[in-house]
Amino acid sequence: MADEDKENKVKEIMRRKEEHIGICIEKPVQARRVRTLFDKVHLINNSLPEIDFDEIELATSFLGHKLSAPLIIGAMTGGAESAKTINGNLAKAAEKLGLGMVVGSQRAGLYDKRLGETYAISRMAGPNIFIGSNIGGAQISAGFCLDDARKLVDMLDADALYVHLNPAQEVVQPEGDMNYRNVLRGIKSFVEGLDVPVVVKEVGFGISGEVARKLEEAGVGAIEVAGTGGTSYAAVEYYRAREMGMKRKERMGELLWDWGIPTAAAVYSAVRNTKLPVVSSGGIRTGIDVAKSIAMGASACSVAWPLLKPAAESAEKAENALSDLIYGLKTAMFLTGSSNIKELGMARYVVTGDLKEWCDQLV
Ligand SMILES: Cc1cc2nc3c(=O)[nH]c(=O)nc-3n(C[C@H](O)[C@H](O)[C@H](O)COP(=O)(O)O)c2cc1C
Repeated sequence: MADEDKENKVKEIMRRKEEHIGICIEKPVQARRVRTLFDKVHLINNSLPEIDFDEIELATSFLGHKLSAPLIIGAMTGGAESAKTINGNLAKAAEKLGLGMVVGSQRAGLYDKRLGETYAISRMAGPNIFIGSNIGGAQISAGFCLDDARKLVDMLDADALYVHLNPAQEVVQPEGDMNYRNVLRGIKSFVEGLDVPVVVKEVGFGISGEVARKLEEAGVGAIEVAGTGGTSYAAVEYYRAREMGMKRKERMGELLWDWGIPTAAAVYSAVRNTKLPVVSSGGIRTGIDVAKSIAMGASACSVAWPLLKPAAESAEKAENALSDLIYGLKTAMFLTGSSNIKELGMARYVVTGDLKEWCDQLV
């Protein structure tokens, strides 16, 4: 790419990243008419838990890395000035609490070394944490190759490469890339060529059981379902399309605002269709959601949007938001008589209403 084109590309990406952060902090971007359906998962209250709250053990492991609780900060950002502060604060909070984190798409870091620092700050502030690198499926179709993947992993000394699948976002995004050919082949090449595992995630529209199976066949190490019911990336891109006067994209944003597989249904399906570790994400808002996810078979949970504003303000605020989630999880463990994460994984629950229909009909 010529220097001038590269410079323009970098500016475009930086602008987009700042807009994503600004929109997610200031505008309503959560699902409107659909929910995660965790409200239809009922853990059974145990009035005789026979355990001491203070002795409940939350530690677990993910892809061979120890986590002090089954929580990983969801992929959000990088490639812009404010993103550097956010990633630094998130990593500080993760380091303090012994949790993991994933950075946002690192495409910008490939074009420009200075932007690389907005991601690398996570490793500087979190020298001991599990960190995931990140790239989009559409970039694979556009020529992103194994060598590029290695550079992203090296940039952070990352413990895994996350590939996000986001066709529904690309459709609404003003600069969206709607060629999604050969993505699975690319993922397979990363699995074969990288020294770290590949994790595949969505961005809030949900990975189906069928797709999870294909990913397992391709050799990925884990799946993060990122289902519907939390942040809607169709909503985020809707505001950008509206601002740019792109009427058709704006209408698609409206139409797809609530598109996708509710997170609880996606977890149910991924757990039944594969033997892979499944990360529950998309609309995880309380420790009870985390507990329900683990009871349904997830290995860990990931939370993004609720941490954005706190992390833009300080590491302490991000830490506080995470500590609230952990306390809620511990409470749910107490009330189900689960003294550790393994026991929580066996806790009984009942599924009702429309989630039952999803579970009956999803393969
Ligand atoms: C500000 C923001 C930026 C995001 N950027 C990325 C990204 O670059 N790569 C990615 O894989 N997911 C990205 N996501 C999606 C999240 O990782 C997550 O899948 C989604 O927001 C659903 O989780 P939530 O409801 O907890 O926010 C972003 C989310 C937010 C809120």
